[in-house]
Amino acid sequence: MHDPPRRETFLPFSRPMIGEEEIAEVADTLRSGWVTTGPKSARFEEELKAFNGVPFCLALLSATTGLELSLGALGIGEGDEVITTAHTFVCTVSNVVLRGAVPILVDIEPSTMNIDAERIEERITPRTKAIIPVHYGGLPCRMERIWEIAQKHGLAVIEDAAHTMGARYAGRRIGSDPRSVFSVYSFHPNKNMTTLEGGAVAFHDPRHAAYLKLQRFHGIARGEGTPFPDGSPLYDVPMPGRKSNFMDVQAAVGLQQLKKLDGFAARRGELARLYLALLADVPEVELPADGDSEREHCWNLFVLRNRPEATGLSREELMAALKAENVGTGVHWQGLFGFSFYRDYFEKHPEGLPKDGLPHATRTTDNLMSLPLWPGMTRDDVLDVVAAVRRVVRLRGGVRS
Ligand SMILES: Cc1ncc(COP(=O)(O)O)c(C=O)c1O
Repeated sequence: MHDPPRRETFLPFSRPMIGEEEIAEVADTLRSGWVTTGPKSARFEEELKAFNGVPFCLALLSATTGLELSLGALGIGEGDEVITTAHTFVCTVSNVVLRGAVPILVDIEPSTMNIDAERIEERITPRTKAIIPVHYGGLPCRMERIWEIAQKHGLAVIEDAAHTMGARYAGRRIGSDPRSVFSVYSFHPNKNMTTLEGGAVAFHDPRHAAYLKLQRFHGIARGEGTPFPDGSPLYDVPMPGRKSNFMDVQAAVGLQQLKKLDGFAARRGELARLYLALLADVPEVELPADGDSEREHCWNLFVLRNRPEATGLSREELMAALKAENVGTGVHWQGLFGFSFYRDYFEKHPEGLPKDGLPHATRTTDNLMSLPLWPGMTRDDVLDVVAAVRRVVRLRGGVRS
């Protein structure tokens, strides 16, 4: 088979799948006169609960807020430590820092790029309060081991499920196992389903509902439990809160996306497996791991790792060469230590880093790039990307080998 030539049109690494159904539902919302939190937001939450098999689920402005409020609900703050992966989007770690707690970073498994569950226990101290595993790219972490460690040491588990809305672990949707106190989904446009911006937090203990509801909207409480009767225009504010409520116009998109989510994930899986098959004979790059019968991959990202010793090129050079081939790529994510705040922070908080460093996370963040993967892509798009990868990994510093 001959490789196709350079693409004529640019292929972005991600693109939300907004169809006529979403547009019609948004138009209906706009015409209804109720555009912010209202009946469609409530219906979306009911559908999220049913879809994920969870008793409680609150929609919010973002997954970032979901993580922030989850930590707040657990009372995590000054003097506490929270264990998480060294390879995550900065907000996972920043939320811990913003609460005044110290993030304790654990290196990743090189194959899955998820937190190495076998390295968690050695980082537990009397100050540890929670573990935040991140299901990177759509592949669930080894949750059984993480729950076992959490139960042994009395720690809360908050799943950063930003990439795994719809994925399954041990046959159950992410978020549905009550051994995790909270699971937080993102509906950012790069995720498997979108509400434009948006996120949700799933949980099992009804005692968390009041705090989260207060926190997402100014700390405002109405009716029962306040000095005012149901239906009163007046309200109490038992605690100061955030403004991070979800809008009906977002819910309109989400209601339609939810119906398509499993189909989107199936298509992502087909495309990802085509990449895996076609790139298997390109040793200059390292391919991501697929899921297995326990950890169902929902393929939010297809993350390739450059082997600089084999290509003779940096990740940035490879990305630029792919761009010249009209192939878009993304970086998910830069390493934390590339950020000025975190370089200083971990100098002041060396306890956040393992004594033997973070070799796997560092090598991964230096070399990774996300290839185009979204359900509207065709088989020919994948063939174009594969041909482009083959050409650019053999450039060797700009000279074709
Ligand atoms: C692992 C992870 N956690 C949290 C978030 C935050 O999601 P949001 O943009 O909905 O706040 C992201 C966003 O990309 C993410 O990748």
